[in-house]
Amino acid sequence: MLGVILPVILGLPAALAQYEAIDTCCQALQGAGLQNVLFSGDAAYKNRTESYWSVSAQLTPHCIVQPTSTDDVVKVVNILVGDGACSSTKFAVRSGGHTTWAGSNNIEDGITVDLGLMTEVTFDKNTTVASIGPGSRWNGVYAVLDPLGYTVPGGRAGTVGVAGFLTGGGNSFYAARKGFACDNVVNFELVTADGKVVNANANENADLFQALKGGSGGNFGIVTRFDMQAFLAGNLWGGTATYNKSVTAQQIDAYVKWTDNVENYQAGSSIIFWSYLPVMSDIVILAAYEDTEGEEAPAGFDEFLAIDRIADTLRLDSHKALTDELEQAAGYRDIWFTMTFTNDKEIFTKIVDLNTAFVEEWKLLSADGDFITQCMFQSIPTIFSKHSVERGGNVLGLDKVDKNAIMLLFDIAVKTPEEEALARPLLRSYGRKMQEFAAKKGGLVDWQFLNYADSYQNPLGSYGAENVEKIRAAAAKFDPQGIFQTKAPGGFKISKVENGSKETSAPIEKEL
Ligand SMILES: Cc1cc2nc3c(=O)[nH]c(=O)nc-3n(C[C@H](O)[C@H](O)[C@H](O)COP(=O)(O)OP(=O)(O)OC[C@H]3O[C@@H](n4cnc5c(N)ncnc54)[C@H](O)[C@@H]3O)c2cc1C
Ligand SMILES: *[C@@H]1O[C@H](CO)[C@@H](O)[C@H](O)[C@H]1NC(C)=O
Ligand SMILES: *[C@@H]1O[C@H](CO)[C@@H](O)[C@H](O)[C@H]1NC(C)=O
Ligand SMILES: *[C@@H]1O[C@H](CO)[C@@H](O)[C@H](O)[C@H]1NC(C)=O
Ligand SMILES: *[C@@H]1O[C@H](CO)[C@@H](O)[C@H](O)[C@H]1NC(C)=O
Repeated sequence: MLGVILPVILGLPAALAQYEAIDTCCQALQGAGLQNVLFSGDAAYKNRTESYWSVSAQLTPHCIVQPTSTDDVVKVVNILVGDGACSSTKFAVRSGGHTTWAGSNNIEDGITVDLGLMTEVTFDKNTTVASIGPGSRWNGVYAVLDPLGYTVPGGRAGTVGVAGFLTGGGNSFYAARKGFACDNVVNFELVTADGKVVNANANENADLFQALKGGSGGNFGIVTRFDMQAFLAGNLWGGTATYNKSVTAQQIDAYVKWTDNVENYQAGSSIIFWSYLPVMSDIVILAAYEDTEGEEAPAGFDEFLAIDRIADTLRLDSHKALTDELEQAAGYRDIWFTMTFTNDKEIFTKIVDLNTAFVEEWKLLSADGDFITQCMFQSIPTIFSKHSVERGGNVLGLDKVDKNAIMLLFDIAVKTPEEEALARPLLRSYGRKMQEFAAKKGGLVDWQFLNYADSYQNPLGSYGAENVEKIRAAAAKFDPQGIFQTKAPGGFKISKVENGSKETSAPIEKEL
C-alpha cells in the first residue's frame, strides 16, 4: 500500500501512473494462469530477493514471475512484450542471480523474470548429453552427474548459476582440456522476443549458437535449456592451500611458470589469490589446486607444493565436493573489477603490491572492519582458446590473444550501502592503476572476462570488432525490434558497445 500512497503524497501523478501500469502488468501475468507471481509482502519474494549472492543486486521489482517450463516462459514473454497490459513495463531476467552489480539481473520499477524454478537436469546415456534447466546451480548439476560417473565443465563455486555462467563463457577446472564451459554446450533452447522457441546448435541457427557462447544470453532472448556434452570423470584430486603472505614472491614465481606449462599439463587447474579476511585481520594467500584426472599431487604442482604452507585440504574428491569447498561468503555488497595481462612477473608483483596498498587504505576507511578482499589470478593460456576453436568457436575473441595471459579478479565485499559508495571508486582507482602499469609495460591484454566485469567495464567491446559484429547481427536477426536491448535493459548490452571502441582503462571520472 505504501507504494501507492507515497507518489500521491508527493504529488507525482507520473510515478503513480507508472506504478499502476506495472501493477496491471503483474496482474495480467497472474490472469494468464502463471502460478508464481510474487509481490513484496510475500515470504517467497523475500526468499528470492535474499538469494541474490551480492546484496548490491537485491533490488525491489514490483513483482517476480517464476515460470516453471518453456511454455510458461513463452507465455511470460508474450505478455511482457505484447502491446497489452505490459506495453510500458520493463523487465529483468535472472537465473542464479550471482552477477554482483545492481541492475544486471534485477530491476526497480519493473518485473523480474526468475528462472529459479527451472532446475531440471537430465542425462541421456546414449549421447552423454546433459540437459540443464537455466535456473540450475552447478551444485545441482554435479549432484546428478557425479553419481553417474560423468561431469561437465562448470562453476567452481557450487551455488553459481548456470545461465549467466555459460552465456558469459565460463571458466572451469577443465578449461585446459575442454576450452571454456560454453564450448561444451551442444544446443541452447531459447525463447525469442516474438514468443518463439528456437534451438541454436551447430546445424540449426549456427549464428545464434556461436553468439550465445560468450555474448551474454540477455542480448538474444531467454535461454530455457542448455544441452551440454558430458564426459566420463571420476574423482578429482584437489582442494585449497593456505599460505602466509610472506611467500608472495615464491608464489608469483611458481604461478608464472605454471601458466606457461598449462599446455603441457592440461589436467591441472590452479587459482591463487591474496585475500584479506576479517578473522585473520590480515592478508593470506589462498590457492585452489585441482587435477581433473584424479592424479594425486602430480608433478605439475611441484613448484607450489614446495612452498611452505599453513594448511591444506588436498585430497581425492568429487567435482561437487570440491566446488562446495570454494563457496564464497554471501550477504555482502560485492564490488568486482577484472583485467587481463600477459604472463609477466613484474606486472603480477605490482598488482599484488597495489592490492596491499588498497587493503591498508581501506582498513583506515572502513567503519566496521567487516570486509573481505580478493586479488585473484587465473591463467588464461592460449591452449584454452585452441580448444574453443576445435569445438567450433565462440565470440570471446581470445583466439586473437597470442600470448599466455593471466586474468585478474580484484574485489571487495562490504556490509553497508555507505561503505559500498566509498569502496567502489577506491577499488576502481586501484584497478586503473593496475591497468596503467600493465599498459606501460606493454602487457595489458585487451580482453575483459564478462563474468567478472563490473557494470562500467566493456567486456563485449573487448572481444574485438569481428565478434562484436557477430553478436550484433545475431541480436538483430533474432530480436529485430531490439526488445532485449531496451525493454530488458539489464546486463551487458551489445547496443551499448560503440563500434571500434576499446575501453582499456577504467573511466573513474564518470563515476565520481
Ligand atoms: C561465488 C562466485 C563464484 C564464481 N565462480 C565462477 C567461475 O568459477 N567461473 C566463471 O566463469 N564465473 C564464475 N562466477 C561468475 C559467474 O559466472 C557470473 O556471476 C554469472 O553471471 C552467474 O550466472 P547466473 O545464472 O547466476 O547469472 P545471473 O546473475 O542470474 O544473470 C547474469 C546475466 O545473464 C542474464 N540471464 C540470466 N539468465 C538468463 C537466461 N536464462 N537467458 C538469458 N539471459 C539470462 C541476466 O539478465 C544477467 O544479465 C562466479 C561468481 C560468484 C559470485
Ligand atoms: C528459500 O526457500 C528454500 C526452500 O523453499 C530454502 O531452502 C532456502 O534456504 C530459502 N532461502 C532463503 C534465502 O531464505
Ligand atoms: C538409446 O539407445 C538404445 C539402443 O540403441 C535405444 O533402444 C534407445 O531408444 C536409445 N534411447 C534414446 C533416448 O535415444
Ligand atoms: C605470517 O608470518 C609472520 C611471521 O613471519 C607471523 O607474524 C604471522 O602471524 C603469520 N601469519 C599467519 C596468518 O600465519
Ligand atoms: C555499428 O556498425 C554496424 C554496421 O557494421 C551498424 O549496423 C551499427 O548501427 C553500428 N552501431 C553503432 C552503435 O554505431
